[in-house]
Amino acid sequence: MKIMIVGGGGREHAIAWAVAKSPKCDKLYAAPGNAGIAELAECVDISVMDADSLVAFAKEKEIDFVIVAPDDPLAAGVADAFLDAGIKTFGPRKNAAIIEASKAFSKDLMKKYDIPSAAYETFEDADAALAYLETQEAPYVLKADGLALGKGVLICQTLEEAKDGIKEIMIDKKFGDAGNKVVIEEFMTGREVSVLCFSDGKTILPMTSAQDHKRAGDGDTGLNTGGMGTFSPSPFYTDEVQKFCEENVYQRTIDAMAAEGREFKGVLFCGLMLTPKGPRVLEFNARFGDPEAQVVIPRLKNDIVEVMEACADGTLDKINLEFEDNAAVCVMLASDGYPVSYKKGFEIKGLENFAGKDDYFVFHSGTKFNEEGKVVTNGGRVLGVTALGNTLVEARANAYKATELIDFENKYMRHDIGKAIDEK
Ligand code: AMP
Ligand code: GLY
Repeated sequence: MKIMIVGGGGREHAIAWAVAKSPKCDKLYAAPGNAGIAELAECVDISVMDADSLVAFAKEKEIDFVIVAPDDPLAAGVADAFLDAGIKTFGPRKNAAIIEASKAFSKDLMKKYDIPSAAYETFEDADAALAYLETQEAPYVLKADGLALGKGVLICQTLEEAKDGIKEIMIDKKFGDAGNKVVIEEFMTGREVSVLCFSDGKTILPMTSAQDHKRAGDGDTGLNTGGMGTFSPSPFYTDEVQKFCEENVYQRTIDAMAAEGREFKGVLFCGLMLTPKGPRVLEFNARFGDPEAQVVIPRLKNDIVEVMEACADGTLDKINLEFEDNAAVCVMLASDGYPVSYKKGFEIKGLENFAGKDDYFVFHSGTKFNEEGKVVTNGGRVLGVTALGNTLVEARANAYKATELIDFENKYMRHDIGKAIDEK
């Protein structure tokens, strides 16, 4: 089969790595890809949002199967464009990707179908939101309705801060149209766990669990980022938690979407918080997480192409999803200054140390070739170094050891990825 991946980050590199291993894959394309993906796929410089050019390219190359990986194109209907052109596609249609693209939609869905989540109110009017805040207690959780690069959630410790937050989102439009509506939510406490699930619209198969580290600095300090590192599995995702989510979250959500006429095919990412009252859904995403994919996919035993095709074909009930009985840790190597401002274009040294290894990998997030053909930094998050191990402790030691193999100017990383596992 000829397969194309739409996207160009670390998540897409991890997907490409697994797809390239499949006996079903004869030729792999990526749009736009990056310097790491280029080792596995022919990269074509088309924007992930340019549906017309993507479909034209897929037709020209007679591509059999397309994987749309990032949130923005899914929310904009890029999967629809391929499907409507008669091309088999992995990834939800726009009317289902809304489960991520609108927080108000997902909160209303959870309320209607009794899926456990935080209490909330939605506002389209800033004055009404400000008045409501007066009736609530700190801390306040404010969420811009739309996609905001993972930065649209504000946790405010004081009423003043929360009021400023409403003004920033709804009046100053800090996140653009994503702030036309705001969800104000009950503040919850507990550990966070991410469970990514394959779905064909009827059957849902949860993958192994993972945990992300969203803050930029050690000890969960500093600004929110796209994710500074992950580990899998989460020791806090116990059999009891899993059973609760199987009974109250996964299947119920897919069935709710189907009942709403929004068949969900692709990856449903369930962001959970393990609160003292039980697991609660923090958010849904309509795609693999980044960098969750970098620790979950290397542990998958199945042929990923077979599983993804089953999602598209509606035959996921025939798949027995299996993961290795091991652990993985991904440490993100970023550009110093991320997520605010940083320099890029620095040569990356040591990538050759990862060639042919099957227990540690480097997934490219923000890299490109410069004019001399050298791989240089090209983003805030640059590389995800993932290592496997028999245990989480071993995987973490292996991952940090592997980070030493890479060098570039401005290299920055957190030193406590997976530290939480010591508490278990
Ligand atoms: P979200 O994009 O909805 O996952 O929110 C981003 C982050 O904000 C989450 O990973 C949590 O750390 C935090 N958060 C979101 N909602 C709540 C809540 N209701 N209570 C406490 N923390 C929250
Ligand atoms: N790592 C969090 C996300 O992909 O949304």
